[in-house]
Amino acid sequence: MLMTAPRGTRDILSPEVEKWQYLEEKIRKHCRRYAFSEIRTPIIEHTELFQRSVGETTDIVQKEMYTFQDRAGRWLTLRPEATASTARAYLENNLFAQPQPVKLYYIGPMFRYDRPQAGRYRQFYQFGVEVIGTQDPAVDTEVILLAVHLFADLGLRDLEVHLNSIGCPQCRGAYRQELRDYLAGHLEELCPDCRARYEQNPLRVLDCKQERCRQVARKAPEFSSYLCEECREHFQLVQGYLRSMDVKYQLNPNLVRGLDYYTKTVFEIVSRELGAQAAICGGGRYDGLVEECGGQPTPGIGFALGMERLLLALDNAGIKLPGREPLDAFLATIGSEAQAPALKLLYQLRQHNLRVDKDYLGRSLKAQLKYADKKEARFVVILGEGELKRNVVLIRKMATGEQEEVPWEQAVEKILAEMGGVADGK
Ligand code: HAM
Repeated sequence: MLMTAPRGTRDILSPEVEKWQYLEEKIRKHCRRYAFSEIRTPIIEHTELFQRSVGETTDIVQKEMYTFQDRAGRWLTLRPEATASTARAYLENNLFAQPQPVKLYYIGPMFRYDRPQAGRYRQFYQFGVEVIGTQDPAVDTEVILLAVHLFADLGLRDLEVHLNSIGCPQCRGAYRQELRDYLAGHLEELCPDCRARYEQNPLRVLDCKQERCRQVARKAPEFSSYLCEECREHFQLVQGYLRSMDVKYQLNPNLVRGLDYYTKTVFEIVSRELGAQAAICGGGRYDGLVEECGGQPTPGIGFALGMERLLLALDNAGIKLPGREPLDAFLATIGSEAQAPALKLLYQLRQHNLRVDKDYLGRSLKAQLKYADKKEARFVVILGEGELKRNVVLIRKMATGEQEEVPWEQAVEKILAEMGGVADGK
């Protein structure tokens, strides 16, 4: 039986992988400018970390985690997200003792037992940033700006920034009660999931995607009128800074996010072109998370962006990213005598940063030229018995078919000159 990748996972191959590399480079460039440094946390964490931080009643913890016991009986989970891991790493590595805030970013695979569909996988990749150690509302704005600038740099327009504040544990208590009272009169209209949410986590009813629940949610009391003084002021400042940076945003009172650690600012960046999986990027403040993970009360904020969804949005917007990289030169050899000199020549060309290859299957010259053509080689260097005897190589320019014989020791120079003097050092 042919083995296949598990459902909801996939291989990323050329020419798609070059697009990923391109995106990753762009991301690293923006993170550098915003003075973030990278963090690489383990793929597996103790299950308890997510239960405590993401929340026992969330879909992620209840339905979507890949959890197993290792051979020593420890409960481990493939990370469904990386904010909790970052908070754990912040404490475990004493990052609180460094100058604050600590600004970290990550790019890597996450795992959720979700129902696979376009833009939704069981293994998917996130780029995320986390700023831990400040409650300055300017940081909320900066984090949103980083995402907005990255999207603009990639040429993505037509994105909407949805913004809301879900307050702090103090003001949320009063609001939750008010919301529950309102929902009590509409229980019959809610889907079964939301009826359960009404008990455990009524805020989540506000972002249910079922049409009937949405109708109920539209008329629900709004959190904004329940925010305490501090949360209200924080939210006003964030919005003021966003306006001063000309970032367009929409207040969305139904935006509550699906993870329990959020406080105050929450946001999502959505692309209308993506249909059901519209959220490319989601994040917010989590001022209680570090404490929940066993540390001192320490504020934090961040977002994560789904790489597959970003690629889908770019594709839908008709934005072309670089694909497979062509060969600079291909070495066609004839006969066993040519092999050792060919390896030497390849080495020399590579020393000049050129992307070069040769035949390893003993193909005929014709087949080698065909192969070189498929690999979009700009030059083919032919090294046959005749050339070897005369200490020369034949350089063929693939675009025109022109061929020129040059002395062996001038081959590298000749190719470099033809390519415009220098290899572009890709
Ligand atoms: P999240 O909203 O669960 O937030 O995920 C962030 C992004 O990951 C989503 O907007 C989406 O683009 C992508 N994503 C989520 N699930 C899938 C999936 N099954 N397949 C493909 N893409 C997916 C978080 O994970 C938070 N940790 C974000 C955060 C960081 N908040 C503060 N800091």
